[in-house]
Amino acid sequence: MNTLIVGVGSIGERHLRCFGATGRATLSLCELNTSLREQVAARYGVAAFADYERALAAKPKVVVICTPANLHIAMAARAVEAGAHVFIEKPLSTKPDGIAELDAAVKQRGLVAGVAYVYRAHPALAAMREALCSGRFGAPVQIVATCGQHFPLYRPAYRDIYYKDRATGGGAVQDALTHVMNAGEWLVGPVTALAADLDHKLLEGVTVEDTVHVVTRHGAVMGSFSLNQHQAPNELTITVICERGTVRFEVHQNRWRWMTQPGGEWADEPGVPMERDTWFTAQAHAFLDAVEGKAPVLCTIDEAAATLRVNLAILAAAEQRRWITP
Ligand SMILES: NC(=O)c1ccc[n+]([C@@H]2O[C@H](COP(=O)([O-])OP(=O)(O)OC[C@H]3O[C@@H](n4cnc5c(N)ncnc54)[C@H](O)[C@@H]3O)[C@@H](O)[C@H]2O)c1
Repeated sequence: MNTLIVGVGSIGERHLRCFGATGRATLSLCELNTSLREQVAARYGVAAFADYERALAAKPKVVVICTPANLHIAMAARAVEAGAHVFIEKPLSTKPDGIAELDAAVKQRGLVAGVAYVYRAHPALAAMREALCSGRFGAPVQIVATCGQHFPLYRPAYRDIYYKDRATGGGAVQDALTHVMNAGEWLVGPVTALAADLDHKLLEGVTVEDTVHVVTRHGAVMGSFSLNQHQAPNELTITVICERGTVRFEVHQNRWRWMTQPGGEWADEPGVPMERDTWFTAQAHAFLDAVEGKAPVLCTIDEAAATLRVNLAILAAAEQRRWITP
């Protein structure tokens, strides 16, 4: 499938490599930055465009949008107009504008659109969700997510990219917590109300928030989510407490586990080793399966738009110091 990767910075290069690893995509790239464009094109031996319109004129079947978030909707809309299926990096956007029109255009043309909330492609999280949905542990009553990592270690350029400004998708809420909020909504349903606290604590050279706490309601389910981008451990844990048991996803251990006996032992479900590229290759396969009509997309425009409303509600709730309905 002719697949165009747009923006080959940090995540775009990974998508180029991982769509390539599926063995199902013939690749090209589009990148504004000349030296980056030439280096990445040479590294993977693929055709490269500087201009997006020229890249679309070559009629790609799939366009993967990996530019900063404030550009996603306009670029996805152009790809859809050109007749391509679109796979869009998270967050879907920085504001709601143009999303309903994009969704309508996708449906009208019979195309497939998905959003790259990659946790949905994690086999352990998917298996835990299946167990939750089966009713094996009873109805969820509470969700608790705690996560953090040393962002400068993983993204040394954070001061010089979209991250430095909320308007381009920066800050812990839009950049990182959005993954966890989307996963939380996938597990226990949409956020119906939230309150939030956030601050800039330790990340040098930026003023956007690096530490966040959110209290949520998902209908009857109560939730709390915390995240920072400066702690030494790289850990993400999502615990769902149900009527008849507790389940826990630990991304840093590549596993999910459960406990039903009060004061008992965790039962670990066997995990598979998950290098980051393995995970992103699974996500690429899932999107190509959706394009081929073999499976639904892992995260729809509608679901990602709901998480965008959550991102914006968190920022507003922290600013206004009150509960907000996204
Ligand atoms: N799923 C994940 O785990 C994950 C990880 C990192 C980033 N992201 C998301 O991916 C997106 C990009 O993040 P990044 O870290 O790769 O950023 P980045 O700054 O490293 O890369 C973005 C690239 O887009 C290019 N670009 C900008 N406008 C362009 C245009 N009009 N035409 C062609 N190229 C253009 C830039 O030159 C840059 O190289 C963001 O939305 C971010 O939130 C997701």
